[in-house]
Amino acid sequence: MELQVYMEKIHTAAKMIEERCGTAEVAVILGSGLGDYINALEDATSVSYEDIPGFPVSTAPGHEGRWFCGTLHGKRVCMMQGRFHSYEGYGLDEVTLPIRVMKLLGVKTLIVTNAAGGVNADFTPGDLMLINDFINLSGKNPLTGPNLGDFGVRFPDMTYAYNPELKQKTREIAKSLNIDLKEGVYCWFNGPTYETPAEIRMARVLGADAVGMSTVPETIVARHSGMNVLGISCITNMAAGMLDQPLSHIEVMETGIRVKNVFRALIDGVIENL
Ligand code: HPA
Repeated sequence: MELQVYMEKIHTAAKMIEERCGTAEVAVILGSGLGDYINALEDATSVSYEDIPGFPVSTAPGHEGRWFCGTLHGKRVCMMQGRFHSYEGYGLDEVTLPIRVMKLLGVKTLIVTNAAGGVNADFTPGDLMLINDFINLSGKNPLTGPNLGDFGVRFPDMTYAYNPELKQKTREIAKSLNIDLKEGVYCWFNGPTYETPAEIRMARVLGADAVGMSTVPETIVARHSGMNVLGISCITNMAAGMLDQPLSHIEVMETGIRVKNVFRALIDGVIENL
């Protein structure tokens, strides 16, 4: 998309969202199973993605497609109930449009959540994993093309893709809540096929602890514009080939629902302590 057109799209969407829902300092992208965390917001207002000019519409099951904003622990927090994935056919400029919008709305801290397959054999479905770092195996990058200089530099540093202080805070909150928080590297595959067992063996050799189809483009674009990012995965299943059974979206959804209260409590603790 041409730079000027894309910039206009970002500003138009941000203006509409600000008029309907207001600004925010914290943003949360709710992955599969976490959608009802929006109920924690006080004085929430929301808008359907369909009504936001230029916004994509989420087609993935378990992703609702509404933007919420309200107050949580005295902070202005916006939440995306449903995100966009590259496998839905969206370009990465569309997948990450909401992150640009967040920047214009004043967001300083982005909390990204997702469902992921466990590659580390010490993990069990239902575990929560603090994302330490990522590996991008998609062959794509959302910053490809002319640099959006209003947002950030051409060659953004990714040494601290996930903010060290936010990670430390999250470890402490997990401890106080008696949550056995795992930690590891999230590896992005495009999907929509789940990985093959050979791909999972490769990912393990490369240093991955979990695999998934989201989060990395959002993280890259958020870091480009200087936001601090925290990423947490729900390990919904063991990755392909680790157990002698096929993977299914039903299993992913069921595990997400099973652990959603713990997941919520952790994120809530983080936001309270920001
Ligand atoms: N692979 C990719 N994405 C996923 C998985 C997986 O095993 N589980 C949940 N999302």
